[in-house]
Amino acid sequence: METNYKQHWDEAFEKTETEKLGWYETTPQKTLELIHHCNIPKDARILNVGVGTTTLIEALIEEGFTNILASDISTSALDQLKKRVQSDKVTYIQDDLTHSQNLKDIEPIDLWIDRAVLHFFNEEKDQKAYWELLNKVLKPGGYALIAAFSLQGAEKCCGLPVHRYSADMLAKGIGTDFQLEEASDYTFINPHGGERPYVYTLFRKNF
Ligand SMILES: C[S@@+](CC[C@H](N)C(=O)[O-])C[C@H]1O[C@@H](n2cnc3c(N)ncnc32)[C@H](O)[C@@H]1O
Repeated sequence: METNYKQHWDEAFEKTETEKLGWYETTPQKTLELIHHCNIPKDARILNVGVGTTTLIEALIEEGFTNILASDISTSALDQLKKRVQSDKVTYIQDDLTHSQNLKDIEPIDLWIDRAVLHFFNEEKDQKAYWELLNKVLKPGGYALIAAFSLQGAEKCCGLPVHRYSADMLAKGIGTDFQLEEASDYTFINPHGGERPYVYTLFRKNF
């Protein structure tokens, strides 16, 4: 039977409180470091895809960013985030990155942030849809910050198999219109004490 991914993720967010989710970070330190590297203005349009209920949204508001787009397949995640954040600096957009209906037509963005969603797309057609959407919505000169399970990473997350990446694999996926600006391995210790090796990359789209 085919997995209903919206339902799968809605249930995950309804069943477990944010701080106990396997991917929960108190402070999204590594992501913030790479955002600082971009040196973009405070009114830059920042899209966090597969946002879940991340504390990154509060961190971005604290940094002074005023134009934040938070997107996810799960309405439960977005509802929880909206309730917690309560800020007019954030716009919420429900969408499936593999069959985009809502993100595909947004005004171009300056920064795409993905921590831990691309690696759930195991089929080539879903990966292709993801890269095409990124390319479509990102401005020339814009940045893409992508963090995924590394080749040493876990094989499953939230009960789903994952596709693991190296920086080279991400560079191949994003294509020749982009330059790799930063790449590093980063081992995240999850709320249950487990090690989750990630690869963090920052790409810039050519002008
Ligand atoms: C492991 S969680 C990471 C959440 C958040 N980025 C973080 O770092 O805390 C993966 C997120 O991707 C979302 N997601 C999974 N498949 C998706 C899809 N096809 N389109 C959009 N979001 C999706 C899930 O609902 C979930 O919020």
